[in-house]
Amino acid sequence: MFNEGNFSKLSEFIYRKSGIFLEESKHYEKIHKFVLARLDELELDNFRKYFFTLRFEDPDGIEFQTLMNAVTVNETYFFREHDQFEVLVNDVLPLLHKTRPKDEPLRILSSPCSTGEEPYSMVLYLLEEANLIEERDIEIIGIDIDSTVIKKAQDGKFSERSVHAIPPVQVQNYFKKKGLSYHLIDDLVGTVEFKVVNIFDRAALRELGKFDVIFSRNMLIYFDDASKKEVAMNFYDMLKPGGFVFLGHAEYMSRIVSVFKAKKFGGSLIYQK
Ligand SMILES: C[S@@+](CC[C@H](N)C(=O)[O-])C[C@H]1O[C@@H](n2cnc3c(N)ncnc32)[C@H](O)[C@@H]1O
Repeated sequence: MFNEGNFSKLSEFIYRKSGIFLEESKHYEKIHKFVLARLDELELDNFRKYFFTLRFEDPDGIEFQTLMNAVTVNETYFFREHDQFEVLVNDVLPLLHKTRPKDEPLRILSSPCSTGEEPYSMVLYLLEEANLIEERDIEIIGIDIDSTVIKKAQDGKFSERSVHAIPPVQVQNYFKKKGLSYHLIDDLVGTVEFKVVNIFDRAALRELGKFDVIFSRNMLIYFDDASKKEVAMNFYDMLKPGGFVFLGHAEYMSRIVSVFKAKKFGGSLIYQK
C-alpha cells in the first residue's frame, strides 16, 4: 500500500513545492499514516492514484493544502526570543519612522506567523513600549503555508503555554480567560491581517506589496541550502530599500546570501537591504 519508493516520491514533491525537507528516518511513519487516512477519505485504492490526484486533479489546491497542514511544524509562543521585539520597537521602527516619507505606513511581515503569536507580540510591544503608534500607521501582516494555523491566528484564541512568557499584567490587559483558553480582547483581534501564502509563491508574494521589516524566524531551519537561498532572495525583493530582516537565533543570513548588511542592535544581529 505504501513503501519507501512512495515516500521518496511524495517527499520530493513536498520539497519542490514548499522547501520542507522530510527525512525518511524521522518522518516515514507520519507520512505513511497520513497517506492511508487520505486513501480512506478519498476512497482511492492505492498510492499511485493518490499521487496522481494530488498532482493533476487538484485544481483548487485542496489536497495540496491538506498535505501541507499535515507536514508543517508550527511551534510558537508569545514573546519568543523577546529581545528582537525590543529591537524592533526601540531601534528599528524609530529609525524607519525618521527616514520614511511621513504619510506612508510602516509595513511589517511575519513570515511565517504560524498561529499568530509572533505578529501579535509585535502589537503588544507596540502598545507597551512605543509612542510611535500615535504618530504613524503600522501595518502588520502574517503569512503561513498552513491554513489551519492561519484560521487559529484569525480567531485570536491561545493556550496557557502560548501566553506563558507574557508578563501577567499584560495577559490581564490584553486577554480574556475563558476556561483554559486566552482570548485576545476584541479591540486587538483584526489588528494583524493573516493570509495563507507559500513563501516560494512569487506571484502571491508580489500581491502583498513591499515591506519595511520582515520577521522570518524558525522556518529556514527546515529548508536545505538551495531553498534558504531562494527564500532569502524573495525577502530581498519584498523589502523596500533600507528595510530589515530578523531571523531566528539559530539562523544566519551570512551563511545563505551576501546581499544584506549585518547590523548589531544590542545582542541581536539583524540584516538590512
Ligand atoms: C516553527 S513555526 C515558526 C513560527 C514563528 N515564526 C516563531 O518563530 O515562533 C514554522 C512555520 O513555518 C511554516 N512554513 C513552512 N514552510 C513554509 C512555506 N513554504 N511558506 C510559508 N510558511 C511555511 C509552517 O507552517 C510553520 O507554521
